[in-house]
Amino acid sequence: MFIEGDNLDALKLLQETYLNQVKMIYIDPPYNTGKDFLYDDDFTEDTDAYFERSLQRGEDGERLIANTESNGRFHSDWLSMLYPRLRLARTLLRDDGVIFISIDDNELPHLLCICDEVFGASNFIASIAVQVNPRGRHLDNFVARTHEYVVIYGRNASNPKTMNGLNKTGRMLEEYDRADARGKYRLLGLRNRNQAFNPTTRPNLYYSLFVNPQDRTVSTTRSTRYTDEVLPITPDDIKTCWTWSKEKVEAESALLTAERTGDEWRIYRKDYLDGADGVATTMPKSLWTEKEFSNDYGRRVIKQLFGKAVMDFPKSVELLEQLVRLGTTDGSIVLDFFAGSATTAHAVMSVNAADGRVRRFFLVQLPEPCAEESEAHKAGFSNIAELAKERIRRAGRKLEGDAGLTTATVDTGFRVLTVDTSNMKDVYYQPDAVKQETLHGLVDNVKDDRSDEDLLFQVLLDWGVDLTLPIASEKLRGKAVHFVDTNALAACFEPGIDEAFIKELAARKPLRAVFRDTGYGSDATKINVEQIFKLLSPGTEVKSI
Ligand SMILES: C[S@@+](CC[C@H](N)C(=O)[O-])C[C@H]1O[C@@H](n2cnc3c(N)ncnc32)[C@H](O)[C@@H]1O
Repeated sequence: MFIEGDNLDALKLLQETYLNQVKMIYIDPPYNTGKDFLYDDDFTEDTDAYFERSLQRGEDGERLIANTESNGRFHSDWLSMLYPRLRLARTLLRDDGVIFISIDDNELPHLLCICDEVFGASNFIASIAVQVNPRGRHLDNFVARTHEYVVIYGRNASNPKTMNGLNKTGRMLEEYDRADARGKYRLLGLRNRNQAFNPTTRPNLYYSLFVNPQDRTVSTTRSTRYTDEVLPITPDDIKTCWTWSKEKVEAESALLTAERTGDEWRIYRKDYLDGADGVATTMPKSLWTEKEFSNDYGRRVIKQLFGKAVMDFPKSVELLEQLVRLGTTDGSIVLDFFAGSATTAHAVMSVNAADGRVRRFFLVQLPEPCAEESEAHKAGFSNIAELAKERIRRAGRKLEGDAGLTTATVDTGFRVLTVDTSNMKDVYYQPDAVKQETLHGLVDNVKDDRSDEDLLFQVLLDWGVDLTLPIASEKLRGKAVHFVDTNALAACFEPGIDEAFIKELAARKPLRAVFRDTGYGSDATKINVEQIFKLLSPGTEVKSI
């Protein structure tokens, strides 16, 4: 899903439906370099007043205010912009959810402070240093910076599902150089090499093992077959201990094997590549210097897709793919509410195409106008949201083409929503100030310019129904009815609804049904609608708007 608008509004709108639903958030907010524009959250003004004012003034983008270092509230303004957005973002995260935030030295310390406050200091996981500019910034003072950070917090960092390990690649895979019927494995010594663990400190881990010299299997008891005794002793006769207890050896002796070096036996355990908990993984390190993560790679992909550098600092798709692999599993929702050129969507689709899993992206981007002299403007994009949507389309087509895939195997479709004012007419007056003329105006409480789709999505939000569910429209007794996910919700916003229509709809047994308050053909229908549903489909919740 792609949402066009201010992310503060979008995050508020998503609160109910997606409370505790999001597995991973990635954001790349403005870094506050002294040249950035910040969105002016004017909390003293309600949204309607703002829209009226901004429509007079022109585009949304006019609320982007330059934040220069000479501003006495330079850091404070940036923090005030980010803080409420992080608060709203946190509640969307699942218990095993994780947030990754790109940032550079300008705001790193302040960002950590507000993140400690919002997420809790105990949920801090790491600040990864990513080399994004290997050549270094030559405009810097004394030291040419080559890296920036990805700050990581968990919603609950003690949840072991917060992050995945990375699949082993390259040299790490080559270590798995043996195979048996169960699969590829490597041998790890059973003796603990750390001499701090010894018979004094770990008496229960110092015991004899016995090897069968014929098949090199291992037992904890001596017998006619298990004849050769082995103790956890270093080549220079220092006593250490085993890494497994005697009970574990007895339970899992099938994993143990012995190898002879000279006239001594060494005990090893088989470490399978595809273990009981899936493929063997490795913990990501805190310094990332892979060339694919650099900004050049981000720019290159944009150039490949558009023929021109239509976005100034797009992130590397490979970097985002790495984060998606670390932060998600099958079915996860990934949210990026500073979407820019939609690199996050590109990476989600790309990781899905590679491993066949289904992750969904939710992106939010302000329709920030593209400056007239910019490449994006010359390429025909009036604002960054337009550019981002086109990037998702092009990236999707490329992924399908690259892999010879069809849309049936990788889902590259997305739905676009725009944050707007309420669909309902405004009521400005106290009841005793209402005049006859204004009452007439309110007979239809829905604004004149609103479509069925506008109303439908309002209802989905009100009811907390997933905004990405499939919607099918069909005619029932000549009236357009929208069915969300077959029977999650049925909506008809047409006028002249009668009892025969209601009965036919109730027979479909939707979980929820909604009509326009002014849609009923008569007062009697309006009164009877609840009764008809109670009789024919008691499980249906009915609502009028
Ligand atoms: C640094 S860019 C993100 C770049 C992105 N990671 C990429 O790879 O292209 C930050 C984006 O956030 C957008 N933005 C800033 N304030 C916003 C707000 N209040 N709501 C939504 N988007 C906003 C800006 O328009 C800008 O495109």
